[in-house]
Amino acid sequence: MTTESREVHLSSRPVGIPKVGDFELVTTQLPEPASGEVLVQNIYMSVDPYMRGRMRDGWELGQVMDGGALGKVIESNNDRFKAGDYVSGSRGWREYFISDGRGLAQIDTTLAPLTSYLGAMGGTGLTAYGGLLVTGQLKEGETVFVSAAAGAVGSVVGQIAKIKNCRVIGSAGSDSKVAYLMDEFHFDHAFNYKTANILDELQKGVG
Ligand SMILES: NC(=O)c1ccc[n+]([C@@H]2O[C@H](COP(=O)([O-])OP(=O)(O)OC[C@H]3O[C@@H](n4cnc5c(N)ncnc54)[C@H](OP(=O)(O)O)[C@@H]3O)[C@@H](O)[C@H]2O)c1
Repeated sequence: MTTESREVHLSSRPVGIPKVGDFELVTTQLPEPASGEVLVQNIYMSVDPYMRGRMRDGWELGQVMDGGALGKVIESNNDRFKAGDYVSGSRGWREYFISDGRGLAQIDTTLAPLTSYLGAMGGTGLTAYGGLLVTGQLKEGETVFVSAAAGAVGSVVGQIAKIKNCRVIGSAGSDSKVAYLMDEFHFDHAFNYKTANILDELQKGVG
């Protein structure tokens, strides 16, 4: 039996802000998974800043795009997976796909909620962790300034820095994002870089 799936193709290279007309929704039929393969139904996908570059150079016109996604194994002929397993991979922008298992990782939803594997437990968290602790070599008690602090990576950077007993200053592009940084993530100081004097705010934040 085949599985009907819809997928999003890049139909033209966007100029400026991407438009709906730069993409096409295409219906395809997937075959039964062969020996060693799995059929996965995507549940969530992540839309990330790097994708704008792929639209310019990387994704082929007339082909399905890709990107981080979480899905559920519907049918398995692969010993590593069983039906019902949650998996993360990079086959976003489509409802279903067939895989030989390469590039798929099993997700343990008893450790953290499923969606966190596209956030703090996924590439976003790894980027924040690697940037701050491995490349940045953050030390306990230091003062950290995070730009784009209300974004996916920035908000995790701020929270890791708080766990490390650092003083955390963040900037974001709206007052509501600034309130979010202070109220939800407990930054020590936050400001709207579009309306504030940045140097003054940094001095205030350092205390
Ligand atoms: N997500 C990942 O796993 C990952 C991995 C590797 C690298 N990165 C890089 O890390 C950076 C942040 O990524 P993210 O996933 O945290 O993104 P995000 O959640 O979409 O945050 C990006 C933020 O950047 C700010 N911004 C500043 N100038 C902008 C502009 N001209 N257009 C759009 N947004 C602008 C916006 O916040 P304000 O309104 O506050 O300005 C926006 O919300 C990006 O450079 C990304 O390529 C991300």
